[in-house]
Amino acid sequence: MNLIELKNIWRIYKQGPETVNALRELSLQIKQGEYVAIMGASGSGKSTLMNVIGCLDKASAGTYLLEGQNITQRTDDELATIRNKTIGFVFQQFNLLASMTALQNVLLPLVYAGMEKEKRLLSAKSALKEVGLEERMQHLPSELSGGQQQRVAIARAIVNKPRILLADEPTGALDSNTAKDIMGIFNRLVDDGITVILVTHDAETASHAKRIIKLKDGKMLDDLML
Ligand SMILES: Nc1ncnc2c1ncn2[C@@H]1O[C@H](COP(=O)(O)OP(=O)(O)OP(=O)(O)O)[C@@H](O)[C@H]1O
Ligand SMILES: [Mg+2]
Repeated sequence: MNLIELKNIWRIYKQGPETVNALRELSLQIKQGEYVAIMGASGSGKSTLMNVIGCLDKASAGTYLLEGQNITQRTDDELATIRNKTIGFVFQQFNLLASMTALQNVLLPLVYAGMEKEKRLLSAKSALKEVGLEERMQHLPSELSGGQQQRVAIARAIVNKPRILLADEPTGALDSNTAKDIMGIFNRLVDDGITVILVTHDAETASHAKRIIKLKDGKMLDDLML
C-alpha cells in the first residue's frame, strides 16, 4: 500500500484577475520508508506540493490518499489532527520560538498532544539526543549556531514519532559542512523507518535521497530512483 498517493492534483491560486496553476494534474505515489528529494526551479511548485502533502494546504482538485484513506474532503480541523499525528515539518528558517529554550521548543508539540509531564520530558530529551544536541538543550535559539538550531527543529519535528518528515530546503540556510551533518541525521531517520521528503536546490543534498522527483511548472518532469 502507498503511504501517500496523489491523483491528478491541481493547486490553483486566484488573485484578482490572475490565476496561477502551482500544481497541474500531478500524480505521485510514495511508500512507507522512502527517502525522496523534490527538485525544480524557483516557482515550480515544490513548496506548494509539500504543503499539500503535509495537509497544510488543500488541493483545488484531485484526490489525496494518506495511508490508504481518502482525505481529500476532510475539514481543516480533521487535517490538523492528521497532521499532528502523522507528519513532522522542518523549514529552511528553523521557525523556533525565540523566547524558549531548545528543550522547551521540543516539548511544545507534546504539550499540545496532551502528554503527561514526565513522559514529555523523556521524549523531548530522547529526540534531542537523537540529533546530538543534549548538552545544549537549555540554550535559547539565539545562543545556538544555525546547524544546532536546525537540529532542534528536527528534534521538534520527530518528537511525536511521525511517520512522515517533510523538510522544505532544510539546508538552504546552512554552510556545506553543517548541511552534511543535517543530511546525516536524515539518513539515520530513514534507517529508523521514517519516510523523509525534502525539497532542495542542491544536487549534493539530493544525492542522499533514494529517489529524486523533478518539478517543472507544477508538473512532474522526472521521477528517478537512485
Ligand atoms: N499563496 C500564494 N498565492 C498566490 N500564488 C502563490 C502562492 N504560493 C505560491 N504561489 C505561486 O505558485 C507557484 C509555485 O510556488 P511554490 O512556492 O510552490 O514554488 P517553489 O518551487 O517552492 O519555489 P522556491 O524554490 O522559490 O521556493 C509560483 O508561481 C508562486 O508564485
Ligand atoms: Mg519553495
